[in-house]
Amino acid sequence: MADGNSETKSSNQMWGGRFASGPDAIMEEINASIGFDKKLYAQDIRGSIAHATMLSHQGIISAEDKDKIVHGLNTILSEIESGQFEFSRRLEDIHMNIEARLATLIGPAAGRLHTARSRNDQVALDFRLWVKEELQRTEKALTGLIAAFLDRAEEHAETVMPGFTHLQTAQPVTFGHHCMAYVEMFGRDRSRVRHAIEHMDESPIGAAALAGTGFPIDRHMTASALGFAGPTRNSIDTVSDRDFALEFLSIAAIAATHLSRLAEEIVIWSTPQFGFIRLSDAFSTGSSIMPQKKNPDAAELVRAKTGRINGSLIALLTVMKGLPLAYSKDMQEDKEQVFDAAESLELAVAAMTGMVRDMTIRADRMKAAAGSGYSTATDLADWLVREAGLPFRDAHHVTGRAVALAEQKACDLADLTLEDLQSIHPQITAKVFDVLTVEASVASRTSFGGTAPNEVRKQIAWWRARN
Ligand code: ARG
Repeated sequence: MADGNSETKSSNQMWGGRFASGPDAIMEEINASIGFDKKLYAQDIRGSIAHATMLSHQGIISAEDKDKIVHGLNTILSEIESGQFEFSRRLEDIHMNIEARLATLIGPAAGRLHTARSRNDQVALDFRLWVKEELQRTEKALTGLIAAFLDRAEEHAETVMPGFTHLQTAQPVTFGHHCMAYVEMFGRDRSRVRHAIEHMDESPIGAAALAGTGFPIDRHMTASALGFAGPTRNSIDTVSDRDFALEFLSIAAIAATHLSRLAEEIVIWSTPQFGFIRLSDAFSTGSSIMPQKKNPDAAELVRAKTGRINGSLIALLTVMKGLPLAYSKDMQEDKEQVFDAAESLELAVAAMTGMVRDMTIRADRMKAAAGSGYSTATDLADWLVREAGLPFRDAHHVTGRAVALAEQKACDLADLTLEDLQSIHPQITAKVFDVLTVEASVASRTSFGGTAPNEVRKQIAWWRARN
């Protein structure tokens, strides 16, 4: 695509005299945003059509000029979508590229489009529309990821695995329960997305440069034409505000952090040492030198994308932190951060959804690991409290001695004999063996939100009704 180098300087200086000799190459380079803000073409055209329609409805421009403008803008839309449009860097950004082309297509009527608006409210509108649409895409993607986890959770409501704290075996849980922890996390991300959509659901157009305008515009009309709940209420804030972008980035950073923790678990679970899962060939690669290897590359890259996304959040917070009201050109640096984070997040969620759906769960390996590391020690302590009436602290102490004995005999708690256990505490009876297996341990944790299969199934049903 041509970058407009062939155009004459003067014909493209839309602001006229002051830069009559043309910006030099460095100024053009630092000033232009067309390289990335061309992504906003559809929002820009939609916003301009709504604005022109309102101007004509209010009698500010003629119906004839409005028709020409709308027709011209639709022509430009198809030119861009079919790849025929020539973007020019001399024309700085998407707004001026489109306006200049409109002038070529329809003549002087094009000049009336910019009545009662400025690029400041125009870019605030375009970008807000884009971010809102991206949030809607994110909501859908998260719903797909949640659905994948719900299916795996249902399938594995009874599959026992070790639960960890400090990455040390703690207590047996079910794989279904572990999956549902991620459903909670991604569910919170999705509700943050929904709140953000509500937060930003106000139309900036008509704030003009910063002070509003003396033309009798109808901002409620443009707001509803563009699908917003209403117009923003303070014109200064409107052109200064990038909270919607920051909210998107902070939501993305938290979601990416969740994805990264999941990625890390997948990396750990797929090692031969753990062997809890096997990744499909679709989401792993072989080694060029070690034929036995299968590397969890997709999970590792999801984990790494989090760095980019967190970086984008910090970058934009830093751009915004010292800016006086209202618009400053610094704010042009908002878009690349958001575009990059959006692309990374979309890809990471898609890759994760695929991995979760595809991975083979090795229930035998999970079960074997669940029983090791004295994972039912808490169940023994709870049994002593319940059946022998011991205070929990004493029960904890007795259990510690049982673990020490098992360690000494190099066996599991369930493999100690009744005599062994009674030598530690005389009130222990054969009934204790009912709680020392991992299945019994898991089935006993019936508290709300606990790991018992029936409890997990209740939570799955709750989420299914909301997904
Ligand atoms: N390209 C600019 C941006 O992305 C558009 C707004 C320009 N406004 C201005 N007063 N120079 O922020």
